[in-house]
Amino acid sequence: MREASEFHVRAPGPADADAIARVLIVTWRATYGHLLPSSFFDDDALEQRTAMWRSMLNGPRRPPRLRVAEAHGEIVGFASAGIPIDDEDPVRDLQLYTLYLLPEHHGSGAGQALLDAVLAGDRAQLWVAEDNPRAHSFYRRNGFLPDGAEKNYPGTALVEVRLVR
Ligand SMILES: CC(C)(COP(=O)(O)OP(=O)(O)OC[C@H]1O[C@@H](n2cnc3c(N)ncnc32)[C@H](O)[C@@H]1OP(=O)(O)O)[C@@H](O)C(=O)NCCC(=O)NCCS
Repeated sequence: MREASEFHVRAPGPADADAIARVLIVTWRATYGHLLPSSFFDDDALEQRTAMWRSMLNGPRRPPRLRVAEAHGEIVGFASAGIPIDDEDPVRDLQLYTLYLLPEHHGSGAGQALLDAVLAGDRAQLWVAEDNPRAHSFYRRNGFLPDGAEKNYPGTALVEVRLVR
């Protein structure tokens, strides 16, 4: 486990797109490797995510609440939030879109720092895989509870549940 003092949280720039995409793919593989096909984590997936983040960080689709956690000069996690998307019936004005931390940094405090940086303690909603016990514990500690809404991650059998606070 890393010490909290070993990371810091900052807003990313366009040069951070590759590192953010890598964190996303590595963390997804570690968390959902048993639930999703390998096409979610292969070189093509990494290339697509990198292109998406490059475009996002350079353009108007950049989420206003977007932060990365850096440790020893490397991005080890990121989080983003904004108005609800991909939700036909949102119950909050703010949604946590992403929160991903490399496995070796879990328990370091960086996940908490990222959440606090993008939500600032505000009421919010988020979607998380039903089968993700660590994330559920983390969100419960932060006041999030399931409100009963469920959906499948598009094109997969992965069930996501909505949490709100
Ligand atoms: C979700 C995430 C950001 C949380 O950050 P973290 O540093 O791991 O979280 P913390 O260590 O602060 O808290 C994790 C909690 O889960 C608990 N926990 C750990 N493993 C667990 C398990 N298998 N089952 C249940 N609870 C578990 C810990 O004890 C801790 O709870 P506590 O503080 O009440 O004791 C991080 O785990 C992560 O990036 N996971 C992979 C990606 C992901 O799932 N993102 C969320 C998508 S919505």
